[in-house]
Amino acid sequence: MNDDFDELLSQATKAQSSSHSPYSRFRVGAALQSDDGKIFTGCNIESSSYGLTICAERVALYKAVSEGVRSFRRMLIVTDAQDFCPPCGACRQVIWDFAKNLEIILVNGERQQKRQNITDLYPEAFGDNFLAGRG
Ligand code: THU
Repeated sequence: MNDDFDELLSQATKAQSSSHSPYSRFRVGAALQSDDGKIFTGCNIESSSYGLTICAERVALYKAVSEGVRSFRRMLIVTDAQDFCPPCGACRQVIWDFAKNLEIILVNGERQQKRQNITDLYPEAFGDNFLAGRG
């Protein structure tokens, strides 16, 4: 399947090596590909005030948005765990806000992959359609 999987995995793995996760010791890397083919990476960054921690997925997405990119194709998420690590609830909301048809590729520690769409992961989502006309 020629969909840049190898490049996405390589970049996500590199980002994972930058993970700042001294509290959980759970290292996550993400690589987000925009519609025009650019790749934005992220890792999880934990805070000593735990609630300020940010996930790898949101770091990648916010980096892209902050650089003016708003349309996305797929995101690869890699961890060293045996189980596939899906995006948390907060990340699902933020992914949905920006990319309502995102392919999500989960890669586990054995480098197996599982593919899903954000629509499968986040059914009956809250979104900007509830806010139209209220601003
Ligand atoms: N984490 C992510 O970066 N992405 C996920 O999809 C799940 C959780 C991070 C947050 C925290 O640094 C650590 O993993 C444990 O929750």
